[in-house]
Amino acid sequence: MGFLFCVFFAACFFFTPPFADCSRSLLQIPHPTALLDVAEALQNTRNVLSFTPIGQSLSASPSPTSFLSLQIYPRASVQKTSHPDYKSLTLSRLQRDSARVTSLATRLDLSVSGISMSDLKPLGKGSEFGAEDVESPIVSGSSQGSGEYFSRVGIGKPPSQVYMVLDTGSDVNWVQCSPCADCYQQSDPIFEPSLSSSYSPLNCDTQQCKYLDDSECRNDRTCVYEVSYGDGSYTVGDFVTETITLGSDSVNNVAIGCGHNNEGLFVGAGGLLGLGGGPLSFSSQLNATTFSYCLVDRDSDSASTLEFDSALPPNAITAPLLRNHQLDTFYYIGLTGISVGGELLPIPESAFKIDESGNGGIIIDSGTAVTRLQTDTYNALRDAFIKGTKNLPSADSVALFDTCYNLSSTSSVDVPTLSFHFPEGKVVPLPAKNYVIPVDSVGTFCFAFAPTSSTLSIIGNVQQQGIRVGFDLGNSRVGFVPNKC
Ligand SMILES: *[C@@H]1O[C@H](CO)[C@@H](O)[C@H](O)[C@H]1NC(C)=O
Ligand SMILES: *[C@@H]1O[C@H](CO)[C@@H](O)[C@H](O)[C@H]1NC(C)=O
Repeated sequence: MGFLFCVFFAACFFFTPPFADCSRSLLQIPHPTALLDVAEALQNTRNVLSFTPIGQSLSASPSPTSFLSLQIYPRASVQKTSHPDYKSLTLSRLQRDSARVTSLATRLDLSVSGISMSDLKPLGKGSEFGAEDVESPIVSGSSQGSGEYFSRVGIGKPPSQVYMVLDTGSDVNWVQCSPCADCYQQSDPIFEPSLSSSYSPLNCDTQQCKYLDDSECRNDRTCVYEVSYGDGSYTVGDFVTETITLGSDSVNNVAIGCGHNNEGLFVGAGGLLGLGGGPLSFSSQLNATTFSYCLVDRDSDSASTLEFDSALPPNAITAPLLRNHQLDTFYYIGLTGISVGGELLPIPESAFKIDESGNGGIIIDSGTAVTRLQTDTYNALRDAFIKGTKNLPSADSVALFDTCYNLSSTSSVDVPTLSFHFPEGKVVPLPAKNYVIPVDSVGTFCFAFAPTSSTLSIIGNVQQQGIRVGFDLGNSRVGFVPNKC
């Protein structure tokens, strides 16, 4: 088999030292191990608990470029954490993450089976909003907030600045809106439509209203949107057009939900900017041919950017961007394999393929933290990783992580390099800190992948950190530029 690979891939000859294992060199991995800076990761876990959130003081910074660009902040730098220690912060992040994964899997299940999301919704009170001007913050034990990366966005004319979650896993943009029948707590004032000269309700016969999965009409005229995220959280309100300001650039007539009734897991940000592949997402409404983002370390207080219509650099490692005919929201990627320490895992190609019915496949998502793989695939990956880390002292499992290490007595360690493989021999090796992550401040680190019982696999933001991820929508390519935040 190795011989056949050599015949078909010229690259193999260039990288094959005499007598070396051909399949290893085919991968073109510079090094079979990667260095994990344990001391730095632990220092970050201590810093993140004491950040002063930038909060409302921050206004959207002007875009320094010719294309639309906005700053992205990790949650920790925007919202002061209420957690006493890093372990507690980790557990709450993981709990949020599980809700997120459930929500995406539900969305897919419903699309595949042809059921509308609203059939699940727990409300009934949705269409009654609007009368009372009462703010009732929802801060239940379970509503820990969703979304890990935020941007500062101006809504209306003149713009009111709010934090919005950036979400490649959904399309409909929305913002909490006055009058609130049910609004959760947010750090900025609730958007007030009566103070905006560009606020304009959409009629039911508009294309934007028709694109909604779940729309209703009020007085047979104006459009009402509802989005349920499948995990009990939802937002309902008027579907309108508004001016959206990013930095110094404004975009007019963006369809956005003015949410009067919002409940669930959104605490922290005032709304959501949908970056999915459907026609109502912000990126689609911009007619953007590309967009890219870089997610800084979740424990850092630095920022990066989301850019629209800026070409990916020529050195980007590219992979096919695939679509699911059952659901246009998700960005599927043509992953062909995963290697650990230079050895490709024995995973069937079908493990990452979308099947006829629309099940399966692997998406790349900004809102999921930990990469989820089908159980067999995960097990093969985990077993290979364990095999390459026999020298490291193990620790008990933590939440969904079953492979953990006690690294309290070292300041750095070598771990097997983990790489994603794409067609045409393209390889994206991950930095060690993108898959061995601290779960407390005293030296427990875990292998940050997890199994899923859904057929849908997801590449999460922990694995994307520090890598610019670009979506070339025109050419159906996803590009990766390592070390480019
Ligand atoms: C995007 O294209 C549509 C249809 O051609 C057009 O109506 C709309 O104004 C465009 N939006 C932007 C922001 O250019
Ligand atoms: C981790 O190892 C250190 C010694 O290297 C030990 O003192 C500590 O108790 C261990 N931690 C756990 C949670 O087992």
